[in-house]
Amino acid sequence: MESPPTVGAAPGFLATVAARKERLRTELARVLEGRSQGAVLEIGCGHGHFLVRYAQEFPHRFCLGLDIVGERLARAERKRVRAGLEHLCFVRAEATEAIECLPPQVRLGEVWVLFPDPWPKLRHHKHRLIQSTFLQRLAERMVPGGQLYFRTDHFGYAEWTRAVLAAHPDWVVLPDAPWPFEEETVFQRKASSYTSLVAAVRIRG
Ligand SMILES: C[S@@+](CC[C@H](N)C(=O)[O-])C[C@H]1O[C@@H](n2cnc3c(N)ncnc32)[C@H](O)[C@@H]1O
Repeated sequence: MESPPTVGAAPGFLATVAARKERLRTELARVLEGRSQGAVLEIGCGHGHFLVRYAQEFPHRFCLGLDIVGERLARAERKRVRAGLEHLCFVRAEATEAIECLPPQVRLGEVWVLFPDPWPKLRHHKHRLIQSTFLQRLAERMVPGGQLYFRTDHFGYAEWTRAVLAAHPDWVVLPDAPWPFEEETVFQRKASSYTSLVAAVRIRG
């Protein structure tokens, strides 16, 4: 589904967004060619600690890491090259745009969101990644039963995510599901405690 155009946005801005999405579509089509089913996505991969280790553990799963900060991705890419991981790719992109720009045939098997920015102030909650519309678009791009792994050290964001998922028609929270792979991220190392949530795309009969 296309994002609605920003109300009152200048034509130059809209053209810039359209050109950026076109480049992203091309890049995602290139990296995901032949890997359309069951790819593993990490949103906000930072320096790539988690996904490099994950890709080493699961050599038969194609892994895609997204982040909006180029310098972090450059470090992630250096780790990837050092480890010689051909089935791992890092792309600079904002998550909502990336989901919109995935090739139509691609279905994700797992999505990992580890220590996302919590946007703690009430007036900034609208910037949180986990929103009902985002979850709907994500669910449309996942394999049936595909899973979301979410972890945060922000109590308010954990409760927010649990509530948005529980109320969502496309997702089922799995309170007893195991956390399938552990690798400490940069933000996890700094956290005194954290909450992990697992949810699956609802399979409709
Ligand atoms: C708090 S850091 C956590 C990094 C890493 N996951 C960790 O646990 O150490 C959040 C990361 O998400 C990235 N980010 C924030 N919003 C994003 C978005 N909408 N799409 C993709 N990446 C995003 C930031 O650039 C940052 O690297």
